[in-house]
Amino acid sequence: RTARFTLDPAFAVGDVNPRLFGSFVEHLGRCVYTGIHEPGHPAADEAGLRTDVLDLVRELGVTAIRYPGGNFVSGYKWEDGTGPAEERPRRLDLAWQSIETNRFGLAEYIDFVAKIGGEPMMAVNLGTRGIAEALELQEYANHPGGTELSDRRIAHGGKEPYGIKLWCLGNEMDGPWQTGHKTAAEYGRLAAETARAMRQIDPEAELVACGSSSQAMPTFAEWEATVLAETYDLVDHISLHAYYEEKDGDRDSFLASAVDMESFIENVVATCDHIGARLKSKKKIQLSFDEWNVWYQSQLAEQEPGNWQEAPRLLEDNYTVTDAVVFGSLLIALLRHADRVTVACLAQLVNVIAPIMTEPGGPAWKQTTFFPFAQASKYGRGKVLQLNVGGPTHETERYGEVPLLHATAVADESTGAITVFAVNRSQTEPLPLEADLRGLAVTRIAEHSVLADSDPEARNTLADPERVTPHAGEGTTLDGGALRATLEPMSWNVIRLA
Ligand code: AHR
Repeated sequence: RTARFTLDPAFAVGDVNPRLFGSFVEHLGRCVYTGIHEPGHPAADEAGLRTDVLDLVRELGVTAIRYPGGNFVSGYKWEDGTGPAEERPRRLDLAWQSIETNRFGLAEYIDFVAKIGGEPMMAVNLGTRGIAEALELQEYANHPGGTELSDRRIAHGGKEPYGIKLWCLGNEMDGPWQTGHKTAAEYGRLAAETARAMRQIDPEAELVACGSSSQAMPTFAEWEATVLAETYDLVDHISLHAYYEEKDGDRDSFLASAVDMESFIENVVATCDHIGARLKSKKKIQLSFDEWNVWYQSQLAEQEPGNWQEAPRLLEDNYTVTDAVVFGSLLIALLRHADRVTVACLAQLVNVIAPIMTEPGGPAWKQTTFFPFAQASKYGRGKVLQLNVGGPTHETERYGEVPLLHATAVADESTGAITVFAVNRSQTEPLPLEADLRGLAVTRIAEHSVLADSDPEARNTLADPERVTPHAGEGTTLDGGALRATLEPMSWNVIRLA
């Protein structure tokens, strides 16, 4: 009943792109308004950004920030979010049946990204708009000056160009729920021509074509093949989105959600490479997993159409320790495919299916999922090592037989330090672990941090914001190149070796 693996620096998956630790800010519910932006809050800075939230976002360690949607972008006019805030229009947001005040827009987003030390990742509207509006946005944002649009940005206070490199060509265009939904052929043509034109402004632009909204979509794989046949030479990435939740009380399957995420990644890689082979191309399309999380979507109350409110409380899932263990396993799945997944965005950042929660006028606090993300972003930089686990398995309803241990390891080549990220999927049994690290120059355990709780439903709340936090693992040893640990039932583990 012992799980085993060997680590050897000669066998690596690839380097981790810092963009793997991206996140997502959508105009949805309270992600922007009273989330990151709340003028009048005691902690707000001169731009209305909540400094208590900025501090938590920095501690979380997010990198690229995808914006402004999501489904929202498919009805968005980017110009509405520019110029003097008090003159901006109020609009209906069809996607979330809300009122959009546009008090937060492009300049505020760029300011937010700069203050967290991140990178912008901007989506253009290919639902209700098209090539011209995407080009106008790109020119307004990035052209130095001397044209009507770039001078307009300067007049709005943006003297320096925003330098946006990473662009999403629409959002979830395969989904019938998307405003301006398209067939793969329609979208593929539009994405190709938008990409071609955007490259006329900036040949170095990095472009993400929309892939499938989940592996379960009826059009999955055919969609990617059709879109890539049109766009292969014009885009750099294809997107993947996936959300997981516990269904019908089947916790073992929920704990194995990363099995689906890994197969989704591998199937998209296969589809990309198939099109590459057909086109006799040397180029490899990268994967942008730009929406992923645990989300209790099936419990989502049907929105009442016409219930138009500003910043309503929407999708404010409160995560348990079980959710955080699954979430950690999803991070492990991304790291295990770091050779092809070069962008990933946790959806979302604040209040909306988020690791950070806020109260209007009140405090900001950390959900259980905050901890695995912060640890993975801090210690998961470097080279991912290959890790083939042997050991105990169990049967799950949805995914058949799965290993109890789900793990990866990242080597920091500048220090020689190794970090093992590991999840024990058993709800009831501790999992003994033995790893052979003889090929590595590590000599001591720097830390074994564990997220687990005797109550699988334990969660942080506004009233009790520190109910769940990581604790130190016990009895972990490194002796003569042999790592030994016991992983608590249903736990997320970070074992740092120096
Ligand atoms: O992240 C919430 C929503 O999930 C996004 O707006 C959409 O792209 C996806 O369906």
